[in-house]
Amino acid sequence: MDTTLFSSLTIPAPTGQGLTLRNRTILSPMCQYAVERQDGVANDWHLQHYGSLAAGGWGLITVESTTVNPVGRISPRDLGLYDDDQEAGHAHLVSFMHRQGTAAAVQLNHAGGRASGQPWLAGTPGGSVPIDEGGWQTVGMTDQSVAPKYRTTTALDEEGLHDIATDFATAAQRADIAGYDAIQIHAAHGYLLHQSLSPITNTRTDEYGGDFTGRTRLTYEVVDAVRAAWPASKPLGVRISATDWVEGGWDLESSIRLVRDLVENHGVTWVDVSSGGLVATSLQPAGPGFHVTLGAAVKNALANTDAVVSVVGGISSPEQAETMLRTGQVDAVSIGRAAMRNPHWPANAAAKLRVPREEIPCAPQYWRAQW
Ligand SMILES: Cc1cc2nc3c(=O)[nH]c(=O)nc-3n(C[C@H](O)[C@H](O)[C@H](O)COP(=O)(O)O)c2cc1C
Repeated sequence: MDTTLFSSLTIPAPTGQGLTLRNRTILSPMCQYAVERQDGVANDWHLQHYGSLAAGGWGLITVESTTVNPVGRISPRDLGLYDDDQEAGHAHLVSFMHRQGTAAAVQLNHAGGRASGQPWLAGTPGGSVPIDEGGWQTVGMTDQSVAPKYRTTTALDEEGLHDIATDFATAAQRADIAGYDAIQIHAAHGYLLHQSLSPITNTRTDEYGGDFTGRTRLTYEVVDAVRAAWPASKPLGVRISATDWVEGGWDLESSIRLVRDLVENHGVTWVDVSSGGLVATSLQPAGPGFHVTLGAAVKNALANTDAVVSVVGGISSPEQAETMLRTGQVDAVSIGRAAMRNPHWPANAAAKLRVPREEIPCAPQYWRAQW
């Protein structure tokens, strides 16, 4: 059967041909909390994890939240991209993924007040890792705690915020050397850029706070710094939380205003739509495809551009993904937990949608399973 899910997709770039994906399945970034010596370096776990996914046919694999400096790590066990060993570890992953025919993106992040956190595990209390157990003092937009059980953050001054934009740019240069095809800047899920965007957590009174212009300033600085450091021939993406689901918080209207300008004037060509993560709220939806209306709203707002819009959240059935694409709600699907349950989700989905056997995306070693 002819499917949209398994048709190719090009994410444009400011110059050149852009990045053509073999299909429209995108692996959503998911922290593995698997770094062993707090050194931010990928190890055997990461190679088997991303390697297995790459063999399973993804169009684009987005490697988990990778921090741009040590203070920005979500947890002590995060990947980093701020030293040579980390860069070499990423290069090894990318080389293997490319050999399986998948494109590779890295999600660059700074966790701000949510740094130094406990790796997310069922049954653990969450919140900050104590300093005497390997945690560290966090930095962010204000001298406040940004979430329950997280320590009080030290507010960065203007110079400190500029330094963060510079760290993002340096990590982008390392990402290029490591061979990545795309970068996704993490501006969602309650981390530093989202903390700066939302009026709930950004109560600054200087030029990095206040109105929309002030609260988006850091995001613009980071995007512009990365775009300048990252080859113009490679796509730059942004993941947003389209709304905080809280009255008076960051909302869809602000998201659309931001991403439209980022796409039209700042070289962003891929927007990945998520939501929430800043404050707990009962309004946060769940269930099959729970962000699709937000993704469709962003897609609609960017209809006169060539930017690619993907959406994440509760996508697990191939038929549902196919319908979302065929009806033009979004251009691509980002898939998280279903990929951890089944790393070969694309190959299995292709078989289920009756894609011709010889076109099923998977490692040649596994083609034999299709016969
Ligand atoms: C274990 C785990 C780790 C995650 N780590 C990240 C991350 O590094 N960056 C990010 O943007 N989202 C992260 N997420 C969120 C997922 O990318 C995704 O947005 C979310 O799980 C909803 O999609 P799903 O319903 O397909 O799982 C994580 C989710 C899980 C389950």
